Amino acid sequence: MVKEKILVTAALPYANGPLHVGHAIGAYIPADVYVRFNRMKGNDVVFVGGTDEHGTPIAVAAEKEGVSPQVIVDRYHEAIKKSFVDLGISFDNFSRTTRPIHYELSQQFFKDILEKGYIYKKVVERPYCNSCKRFLPDRYVRGTCPHCGSKDERGDQCEACGKQLEPHELKDSYCVTCRNPPVMKATEHWFFKLSEFSAKLHGWIEENRHWPDNARNFSLGWIKEGLEDRAITRDLSWGVPVPIEGAKGKVLYVWFDAPIGYISATKEWAQKIGKPGEWKKYWQMPDTKIVHFLGKDNIPFHAIIWPAMLMAHGQYTLPWQVSSNEYLTLEGKKMSTSRNWVLWLHDALTAYDTDVIRYYLLSINPEKKDADFSLKDFQGKTNSELIGTYGNFVNRSMSFLERSGSVVPKVTAFDALDEKMQELIRESPEKVGKHLAHFKFLDALKELMAIAHCGNEYFQKKEPWKNENATTLYLCANLCRTLAILSYPFLPFTSEKIWKMLGLEGKVSECRWEDAGELAVREGHRIGKVFTLFKKIEDDEIAAFGKKYLSTEKKEEQKMDANCLEYEEFKKTELRIGVIKEVVEHPKADKLYVLKVDLGEPALRQIVAGIRNYYKKEELLGKHVVVVANLKPAELRGVLSEGMLLAADVDGKAILLVPDKEAPVGSKIR
Ligand code: MF3
Ligand code: ZN
Repeated sequence: MVKEKILVTAALPYANGPLHVGHAIGAYIPADVYVRFNRMKGNDVVFVGGTDEHGTPIAVAAEKEGVSPQVIVDRYHEAIKKSFVDLGISFDNFSRTTRPIHYELSQQFFKDILEKGYIYKKVVERPYCNSCKRFLPDRYVRGTCPHCGSKDERGDQCEACGKQLEPHELKDSYCVTCRNPPVMKATEHWFFKLSEFSAKLHGWIEENRHWPDNARNFSLGWIKEGLEDRAITRDLSWGVPVPIEGAKGKVLYVWFDAPIGYISATKEWAQKIGKPGEWKKYWQMPDTKIVHFLGKDNIPFHAIIWPAMLMAHGQYTLPWQVSSNEYLTLEGKKMSTSRNWVLWLHDALTAYDTDVIRYYLLSINPEKKDADFSLKDFQGKTNSELIGTYGNFVNRSMSFLERSGSVVPKVTAFDALDEKMQELIRESPEKVGKHLAHFKFLDALKELMAIAHCGNEYFQKKEPWKNENATTLYLCANLCRTLAILSYPFLPFTSEKIWKMLGLEGKVSECRWEDAGELAVREGHRIGKVFTLFKKIEDDEIAAFGKKYLSTEKKEEQKMDANCLEYEEFKKTELRIGVIKEVVEHPKADKLYVLKVDLGEPALRQIVAGIRNYYKKEELLGKHVVVVANLKPAELRGVLSEGMLLAADVDGKAILLVPDKEAPVGSKIR
């Protein structure tokens, strides 16, 4: 066998929240299975990943929490990394797009294709929010999709039809921060000449017959509709700065820099192993197969835009495979973090062993069509397949052997059933392997389970508890070893456990895939201690799990609890009538006034209020207002504020609350 060079990537998740089970099976588990399989095949594999830490997904999350984007990406990089470790995803390097190595490479990439003439500058009209005083790129704006009419879609991509969007294309759009409709305003951006790559992409994709249908059809369809040049810069402060003069306040579009992260993560890997030039073997020698794993929504970028960027650049190898999964639903409903309908990966992994989760997700892998995660099905498949078929065969074989003295007996005679079993062992690596080599994870897992099923049938027919059993036990021990090797890509932890039980040397991870076809457990071999691999999932247990992690009601309740205020606490709030005596502009913030308010106390109170856009000075002077009088004084943009005015928030505009009849200054409100 000729050794192949393979670089495997799995889409870089945004570091703006934790991972759910849909992410896990969307890209990472299949990628890991493929990688583990190819390592055992003796191929030269490098597997890179990392977190995608730029763009409006991060910036919007940061604003929602009122913290800096750095805080968000630091927090979720760590959380995501931990989930991948717990899930057994065997990255050779897990990087971040905020690292200097990545900034440098993406800026260089931009400059390289600019120099080649594939980037040009253009003044365009883009949505601008007058009340937030800024442009609204990508996810800062929501509205109706111009293609399919789906409402409340984000400005970068329509979730309903999957089409790429630009914020100005949305209909009835609004600012996600203040909900006001934006206006159009001129701004200068850099465009990538995607349109020039239409023919080249078309020819290339036509040839890529090994791509999954979803990636092929989507990209060929898009080319047919006509590819347009795309803006690759944004008016935003968070991101990789556009590396040319006159581009202040502009950053690279996150989808321009993120895929370059695959290269920078490989570069970083090469540095870490002390061979800084090694990355070139994978990115600059055309005999390497570059394999991208991703979810369906990422197809446009990986199958069209990224390859076009690479074509424009000319110094890097194009992807060989774009392995893209469809979506995972949860109990028949679309997963949604905002609607609280998700199963978090870390929750699933707290309650169940990694391989139990991996097995179930792989058994419903949304390879060709959407799949549904349901607790009932999870319990059923775990109990009947993973435990009932696979675990059962290993368990009954090993226990029987242990009870018979823990030593593999001397083979006596081979009957027809034994011959068939021997044949099955010999053929098994090819049976499972051919599917894995073709990204058919469902078929591969089915084949693996079919082999375990044959093991059970064999055991049953041979009735070793009744008959002469030396050959039976010998072959069963060998089939356990075979299963350990072949299940390693899917169930890496379980497979090492079986290895240990068998008392074999080394580790499964050091085996060659083809070793699974040998009868290497010899007579006279002493096995290790036998234990059960899995615990059956009981009804009450799965019900409790669902209640704890899946019920939206439960979560709503908890939220309510968290939001509710005890009356005693509320009573502490001191509200008083005051009268505004003085109004000046805040020296540093153009939305704020600095007011002096009389509360009937010896001194006037200084209050900083964000009402400058809604009230003129003269409207405020002499006005009776409601003041929160016992707030701890705080500085607002450098000016001390000793209270707060009450106002209604109407679409982001402030409307002051005033007493209905004349009430003396200082009156308490109860
Ligand atoms: N962060 C993107 C997402 O979660 C995926 C980026 S993949 C890469 O949808 F190619 F850009 F790295
Ligand atoms: Zn706004």
